[in-house]
Amino acid sequence: MEIKKITCIGAGYVGGPTMSVIAQKNPDIQVTVVDLNAQRIADWNQDDLSQLPVYEPGLDAVVAEARGRNLFFSTEVEKAIQEADMIFISVNTPTKTYGKGKGQAADLKFIELCARQIADVSTSSKIIVEKSTIPVRTAATIKNILDHTGKGVQFQVLSNPEFLAEGTAIRDLHHPDRILIGGENPEAIQALKKIYEAWVPSERIITTNLWSSELSKLVANAFLAQRVSSINSISELCEATGANVDEVANAIGQDSRIGSKFLKASVGFGGSCFQKDLLNLVYIARSYNLHAVADYWDQVIKINDHQKTRFAEKIIQTMYNTVNGKKIAFLGWAFKKDTNDTRESAAIYVADHLLEEQAEISVYDPKVLDVQIYKDLDYLATRTLEENKSLLQVETNPYDAAAGAHGLAILTEWDEFKDLDWAKIKTQMKKPAFIFDGRKLLDGKKLTEMGFVYYAIGE
Ligand code: NAD
Ligand code: UGA
Repeated sequence: MEIKKITCIGAGYVGGPTMSVIAQKNPDIQVTVVDLNAQRIADWNQDDLSQLPVYEPGLDAVVAEARGRNLFFSTEVEKAIQEADMIFISVNTPTKTYGKGKGQAADLKFIELCARQIADVSTSSKIIVEKSTIPVRTAATIKNILDHTGKGVQFQVLSNPEFLAEGTAIRDLHHPDRILIGGENPEAIQALKKIYEAWVPSERIITTNLWSSELSKLVANAFLAQRVSSINSISELCEATGANVDEVANAIGQDSRIGSKFLKASVGFGGSCFQKDLLNLVYIARSYNLHAVADYWDQVIKINDHQKTRFAEKIIQTMYNTVNGKKIAFLGWAFKKDTNDTRESAAIYVADHLLEEQAEISVYDPKVLDVQIYKDLDYLATRTLEENKSLLQVETNPYDAAAGAHGLAILTEWDEFKDLDWAKIKTQMKKPAFIFDGRKLLDGKKLTEMGFVYYAIGE
């Protein structure tokens, strides 16, 4: 099976960067990324590479190299499906917001729509690759739709979950720890393997059966999220006992059986996937009546919710038990540094909590636009958009955000926050000037010496 043309359905945070790198490393394969969202496609096609719809360090250079050569972004979904030898499905699989499984199960309507569209328009055999994160056994659904509504053409379905993290996507794609391919048909597996072998050593390409591959993606995210919740649960114990969570993380992380990564205490994990995939895992376990398993993983989410609430409560309690009418500056809104993505960011929930206590909030984030911030709050439906706009201002620099503030909270660990002119910020803030460091980013000792009242998670 020789692959000359690849189509990817979904030009989002996964489809865009992943296909850019596949095209970069396989100049002889034509890669077309399609999306229903015409604005998103227009943004991928624009000349100014600093304005691509996804902000990722290094992505602009990859797009510059491949776009127009063998990488194309298009809204012509049907044409791209028809022409492709291999189709990646990279559409969103959000948590269901209605009906059975509401708030837990993954909503597979976009996946099903893709499968139906592929079945409707395909006139030649194709390999279909699940790139989206989906519940275990979804490949059976896709195969079923393709086999029953197709026009007699042959479809092979593979699972090839993506493990990139936002903010480091290009590095992760260039140097993956592993590539996972699940499938039944050896030729189809080999065809996909060959694409990755253009730059990934073969020993890093793992092949499994379909169900192991699908489940491994959910389990990988569950284990990573569990580490963050584990250290965050210890951060609270550190605050109560005088231990320091960074010192504890360092001490335990030196044990090679534990390892040092993903032990950074924080205001809580965010992002589009950890919570969604944990909820999905919990739902799947319950659907097999495995309630002890479901309860175990559910606790990872509970600790994360607790951490966000605890941080907001700490701000209120420290500021004399009321934030009513007080201005609190937020530095950071994205769910982690080096991304413009705000999905499930802890900042949204901390802000919502403080706004309920009638605080006034000013936000500065180097990559997130004001429209997105209001959209995030609006989505929670706690207040009207007008109310949110009257209580929360978005600033274009950190000093304006801090001016006249009673307290300042670090929500995202952007490197630039470390080098701000903290003396200037102090003169601008009301006294006592409180800092709440939800990322343990700043030099607390120095700030305390400067006269700030400094609180950090886990100290
Ligand atoms: P996203 O929302 O950024 O992008 C999905 C895109 O698919 C959207 O632009 C949407 O318009 C498009 N789309 C939906 N249905 C379509 C259809 N029928 N035809 C054409 N386009 C359609 O989502 P994402 O963050 O890229 O995530 C995609 C999948 O990858 C999810 O399953 C997610 O869990 C998984 N994943 C995400 C990450 C990450 O870092 N964001 C990492 C690994 C895996
Ligand atoms: C995560 C996984 O790391 C990826 O492997 C996976 O592909 C992806 O989810 C996905 O399926 O979407 P991502 O959510 O982009 O990637 O970013 P992470 O670096 O995992 O961070 C997730 C959240 O945990 C962030 O809010 C981050 O600030 C927080 N975190 C992470 C901590 O609080 N402490 C840590 O030590 C690490």
